Amino acid sequence: MTTSELESTVKALLVSGKGILAADESFPTIEKRFKALNISSTEDNRRAYREVLFTTPGLTEFISGVILFDETIRQRTSDAFPIPEALTKRGIIPGIKVDKGTTTLPNFASEKITQGLDGLRDRLIEYQQLGARFTKWRAVITIGEQIPTRTCIEANSKALALFAALSQETGLVPIVEPEVLMNGEHTIAHCEEITDAVLKSVFSALFDYRVALEHLLLKTGMILSGAECPQQADVAEVAEKTLRCFRRAVPAAVPGIVFLSGGQNDEVATQRLNVICRTSDVPWKLSFSFGRALQSPALNIWNGSLNNITAAQSALHHRAKCNGFAVQGKYSEQMERANPII
Ligand code: 13P
Repeated sequence: MTTSELESTVKALLVSGKGILAADESFPTIEKRFKALNISSTEDNRRAYREVLFTTPGLTEFISGVILFDETIRQRTSDAFPIPEALTKRGIIPGIKVDKGTTTLPNFASEKITQGLDGLRDRLIEYQQLGARFTKWRAVITIGEQIPTRTCIEANSKALALFAALSQETGLVPIVEPEVLMNGEHTIAHCEEITDAVLKSVFSALFDYRVALEHLLLKTGMILSGAECPQQADVAEVAEKTLRCFRRAVPAAVPGIVFLSGGQNDEVATQRLNVICRTSDVPWKLSFSFGRALQSPALNIWNGSLNNITAAQSALHHRAKCNGFAVQGKYSEQMERANPII
């Protein structure tokens, strides 16, 4: 591994006007998304769906990288190319989710710890040989009565730091993702307070584990009112509090922060991204690494049928384009309505 490999991956992922497509849903998650449409979650359907996404015409204009799941990185396109190779050939960088999902933190019944550190060093070497150039690990923090606890935040921060150190050792750029869930009745002020504590804990652990901040990306949510909070903050307040929180807690050495969508409506997520990214006086590049907010319209249109592939790909292209413009602060209502699908 050389530093220049990590640097070139970071640079390519953060190229202006592009973001990352998260298509790394685990077996239970993709099953849930398919079930809502009565599609059975067979290996072939999962492969076919991901192929629809990855072969979307024009996707490379707005997407720099794709996060894959373990099953997908081993699959082939229908014309027999290994999926990571097919992506690389198109100029899209393949990445891989390497955590093994969450489990209950013992003694802390309503909190989660992310699993997957055992054997990770060997798995990373294998993923690199399969063509991955970056990795992702997601920690989940829930806001509720008396939670999150310091124990939960610190345990997840240490796991993220060890994952990041191991990834860099293998020449893979880690995407460090501490997700503060938007579920709950909490206010936007409380979301900011918790996210601040989580980010400070994560960066303290990254520092302790000697992780090179220049060679990682932070993936996080926006600062939002809880989904069930009666008082919903508007776009301007979301942008202001999100940037304030990052300025206080994210070191300037970090090259980029990419947003997860976390269950926000896809158009609303794009509007918020646009206002956040209009601000230029920040030390990091800001972009997106959306799963649902990029895929939802395409998945609904595809609906498991060969006949719908072109329309599904147009829907994905449209969302990618809107978000690609939003990261430059150039998204507009007019462009949203120019959707070829409606
Ligand atoms: P969402 O954008 O659907 O939250 O997914 C992003 C992701 O990769 C979560 O780990």
